[in-house]
Amino acid sequence: MLSIRNLRVVYRMPDTGFEVRALRGVDLDVKRGVLLGLVGESGSGKSTLAMAVMRLLKPPAYLKSGEIVLDGVNIFTLDESVFDKEYRWRRVAYVPQASQNALNPTMNVFGPLHRHCKSSRPRRQGGGGEESTAAFARGGLRPRQSP
Ligand SMILES: Nc1ncnc2c1ncn2[C@@H]1O[C@H](COP(=O)(O)OP(=O)(O)OP(=O)(O)O)[C@@H](O)[C@H]1O
Ligand SMILES: [Mg+2]
Repeated sequence: MLSIRNLRVVYRMPDTGFEVRALRGVDLDVKRGVLLGLVGESGSGKSTLAMAVMRLLKPPAYLKSGEIVLDGVNIFTLDESVFDKEYRWRRVAYVPQASQNALNPTMNVFGPLHRHCKSSRPRRQGGGGEESTAAFARGGLRPRQSP
């Protein structure tokens, strides 16, 4: 269960100190296993919210207030190393808009997927490459490496 309470994020202009209030008190609950699609006009804060949940906000973005609680743990209280190892992309993830455009159409997709799986997971959790091969098989695709 993901619970977001009163989340406020600003972008602070380095020259003037002016703050763009990107998120102004977001409250949101997402139950385990639910895929949530976030829809809104450009500039409404979708990416900022996703980046906050992934703990990937960087200056000039600053968290002003609020909490993000994942399975009872406020993620802002965790060490970065713990969050990166146990949470980011494992217990919480997001699919960016237009993500299909992010792939290089001249490359076979297996190579990047395979390298990501190998580098981000211990061998016992599919880091030997089994996970990417199995994912391709589920989709009826042949796992050929890029040249
Ligand atoms: N690096 C930045 N510096 C200053 N302001 C920013 C920055 N990034 C985002 N903003 C501002 O924060 C607000 C929210 O932007 P965000 O990118 O989260 O919106 P979005 O809903 O993802 O938009 P889009 O649909 O265009 O991707 C907007 O007012 C935007 O101008
Ligand atoms: Mg966006």
